[in-house]
Amino acid sequence: MSPSTQLPPGPRPAALNTLGLVERPVQALTKWRRKYGNVFSAPMLVFGMGVYVAEPEAIKDMFTGDQSDLRAGEANAPLAPMLGDRSVLILDGREHMRQRKLLLPPFGGSNVAAFREVIRDVTEREVGSWRDGERIVVRNRMRTLTFEVIVRAVFGVTERERIDRLRGALLALIDTQMAFTIPEPLRLELGGRGPWGAFQARKRAADQLIYEEIARRRTAADLAERDDVLSLLLRARDEAGREMTDVELRDELMTMLLAGHETTATGLAYAFDLLFRDAAVLARLRDELASGDDSYLDAVVTETLRVRPVIDGAERTLTKPRTIAGWHLPAGIRVYPAIALVHWREDLYPEPQVFRPERFLGEGAQSYTWLPFGGGIRRCIGAALAQAEMAEVIRTVVSTVDLELERPTREPVIVRGITLVPKHGTPAVVRRRRVPAGAAGEPAGALA
Ligand code: HEM
Repeated sequence: MSPSTQLPPGPRPAALNTLGLVERPVQALTKWRRKYGNVFSAPMLVFGMGVYVAEPEAIKDMFTGDQSDLRAGEANAPLAPMLGDRSVLILDGREHMRQRKLLLPPFGGSNVAAFREVIRDVTEREVGSWRDGERIVVRNRMRTLTFEVIVRAVFGVTERERIDRLRGALLALIDTQMAFTIPEPLRLELGGRGPWGAFQARKRAADQLIYEEIARRRTAADLAERDDVLSLLLRARDEAGREMTDVELRDELMTMLLAGHETTATGLAYAFDLLFRDAAVLARLRDELASGDDSYLDAVVTETLRVRPVIDGAERTLTKPRTIAGWHLPAGIRVYPAIALVHWREDLYPEPQVFRPERFLGEGAQSYTWLPFGGGIRRCIGAALAQAEMAEVIRTVVSTVDLELERPTREPVIVRGITLVPKHGTPAVVRRRRVPAGAAGEPAGALA
């Protein structure tokens, strides 16, 4: 560290910090902020020293000013064996911007409106399969649902048999993803028998199906009219007029699948854990939906992602020293715009752990005090899709069923991978609602 740079104080040592963060992230983060303030340093096992920044103004500076000295892809390098090295998540600098510019338009407003139909379709099928009195683990059901939304809206695959084949191959691959925590020298194929070999074999199988879809789509007669993300990417050209290669398309499809389905499923599991233990909010939501007004529904989504953000912090590595929130930080250090800590600041959100969608009625969310999707040139590409998906799924579920939550109190939050998840996945018993046929706001099939 150069003598002019300095680290803010914070909790030590790394082993204790990591344990605290993984097992009790809400309590650990809150305790650290209370003790050290809005900017503190915390070493972690594997990740090394990091600086948490829970100051909206400082975060705004990082997301809107010059970002050329901030790297985000580098930190995701361990995911490269799965995502491929053309993934927008892995790349930095010019190459990252090229991929990002190609990926953003398919997730714009008019396309997301079209995705809502796919989402409703998939949700009605999924929720329609829940039997009265059945016990479900909500997060698992949501994962099935969000997976299918990505396969249909992003990959553009609609034939049941092809969806099932893709599901089988991709979920098998995701199950072996721990393999890429194996150190390089131990990455042995062993004829497909060891964990690395199994990972490689499953990756080849999944890739074969993805490349098959890309090839089929390239020659599809209706390519020009299709609005799924893959078709839009096949028609896209970069600033130099170049189209995306098959490898780029494969890597981005895999990235969107991995970045987009478990995150959204987790957000939904939290939403139902919050909603079905709050009779007043649930009743108001149902009333507002019945009156045809979606603003409360949108506020429910916004408040869910505030009180239970799926990712606790964005991540940037400094390539040169930079002053952030008054601290002159050294090159090489990781800085975390601390999403969760900003969301839980009592001066910004009084009683921050209380679920109160009314906070967002009227004014809506502000960019640097509400940031579940990060920001700047790395802001989540699927943010609009994820919010539309959460809204549509919540609409259908609350209109069709009651969920009797198994646990007497709110789900504890733990860290899995890089996400904050409800520890038990939100187990619940399904009670199908009996509402008069044709009641306003009720989807077809609401009667048990
Ligand atoms: C509730 C659901 C989701 C949450 C909470 C979420 C959150 C995030 C966050 C925090 C980031 C990092 C932002 C930053 O570093 O500033 C991110 C990046 C990203 N997300 Fe999401 N995400 C969600 C759903 C999705 C979906 C549905 C997709 C696509 C189908 C998606 C695709 C991506 C991609 C491609 C990136 C990398 C962007 C880049 O590096 O330029 N995400 N997401």
